[in-house]
Amino acid sequence: MVAKVRAVFRCGECGTSSPKWTGRCPGCEGWNTLVEELERVGAGGVTRSAPRERPVPIAEVDVHEWAARPTGISELDRVLGGGLVPGSVTLLGGEPGIGKSTLLLQAASSVAGSGATVLYVSAEESRQQVRLRAERLAALRPRLLVVSETSVPAVLAHVAEVGPDLLVVDSIQAVHDPDLSSAPGTVAQVREASHRLAQEAKARGMATVLVGHVTKDGALAGPRVLEHVVDTVLAFEGDRHHALRLLRAVKHRFGSTADLGLFEMGEEGLAAVPDASGLFLADRRPGVPGSVVVPTIEGHRPLLVELQALVVPTPIPTPRRSAQGLDAGRLSMLLAVLDQRVGIQIGNRDVYALAVGGVRVAEPGADLALALAVATAVTGAVLPADLVACGEVGLGGELRQVAATERRLTEAARLGFRRAVVPFSAPLPPAGVEVLRAATLAEAVALVGADEG
Ligand code: TYD
Ligand code: MG
Repeated sequence: MVAKVRAVFRCGECGTSSPKWTGRCPGCEGWNTLVEELERVGAGGVTRSAPRERPVPIAEVDVHEWAARPTGISELDRVLGGGLVPGSVTLLGGEPGIGKSTLLLQAASSVAGSGATVLYVSAEESRQQVRLRAERLAALRPRLLVVSETSVPAVLAHVAEVGPDLLVVDSIQAVHDPDLSSAPGTVAQVREASHRLAQEAKARGMATVLVGHVTKDGALAGPRVLEHVVDTVLAFEGDRHHALRLLRAVKHRFGSTADLGLFEMGEEGLAAVPDASGLFLADRRPGVPGSVVVPTIEGHRPLLVELQALVVPTPIPTPRRSAQGLDAGRLSMLLAVLDQRVGIQIGNRDVYALAVGGVRVAEPGADLALALAVATAVTGAVLPADLVACGEVGLGGELRQVAATERRLTEAARLGFRRAVVPFSAPLPPAGVEVLRAATLAEAVALVGADEG
């Protein structure tokens, strides 16, 4: 029985199908709910595939089949909790230019170097371009095969021929199924392509990594649907103008999403950053008002980041509030608390706040450090070079303890910090760190002399 494939448009709300696209669903009359999909129709209707597995007693399920295999890229393996699981599908999302192709080419090369076969499908670049990049990365390996291909059935044919242990498709938005009339990158295409590739991955026990571009606001371009099809979603982030790149798991079916991977983009590709705090603080110049170091937490990983603030008079009636790498809403709130609860008036002045190093610090644990940075920027006070601050600030001006304070302070101690401003309730500090406890932001400001320049 030969299965035939037919494209239909189906309503995402009520399931009504229609042979052609209409703006309004003929079933539920919803607007723009029809999405194209492929229906496989056999002689007797929809075909059913034979089951691949037989039910077994739960204790007889072989877990080794699902053991992660290291890629050899340490920071990637850290985030994946060991490596890639055979048969799993991983989506690597990130803004264009952030380094997704670079990371995957390095991983593909490393895996191929360990004796596995890797197929790298480049749907956006020619294989010459991929080769040139691979040369620069010293990633040429006999078992790393490259093909430039955009058609999903052709990709599956290459997979059948090569039988790779690892398949990389770069990117999922650039491949398409010619049986669908929808354009590449649309919900219909991305859903169909990822389904087909995921089926193949499971059937062959082939680890598969899909590249997905995301827009500026962090959403996957078009298809949220993709996140449900894959086992793991990795987000690759960073400021394009800085070398630092952060890799984290947003969803991970095989492990925790707490670990953070850190890379530095250099001439020879991405290199692991084992000591991120050291990197962030390398160019710090103590003795400048408006600078406070915060021990922040990314996943399980403590990171020391310098927060800076600059406050400048302006004749403009609506002064500027700029928050680079920080949460703008949080900054506004802290300015209001400084004004109302501490008596530090920002008034008609522009406020520029920055997390140094291209890293994003948006957790409440950075409130106190940010507020102290602004306070000292206003008063001209200089805080001791060996001081850090961490704690959440409430609207009443009260300070609250944040998670993992001990881990944060241990990291601070490792980098030579000796004093920490913390909320009253904070736990005992690690050896070598003296804590300065404050119940309110006003107390903290007075305690470190930030109220006088
Ligand atoms: P790329 O991996 O192509 O990004 P993506 O696939 O996410 O779009 O990398 C983009 C940038 O990285 C590009 O501007 C060049 C830079 N780069 C380096 O700095 N060093 C290198 O070794 C490589 C390969 C790229
Ligand atoms: Mg790319």
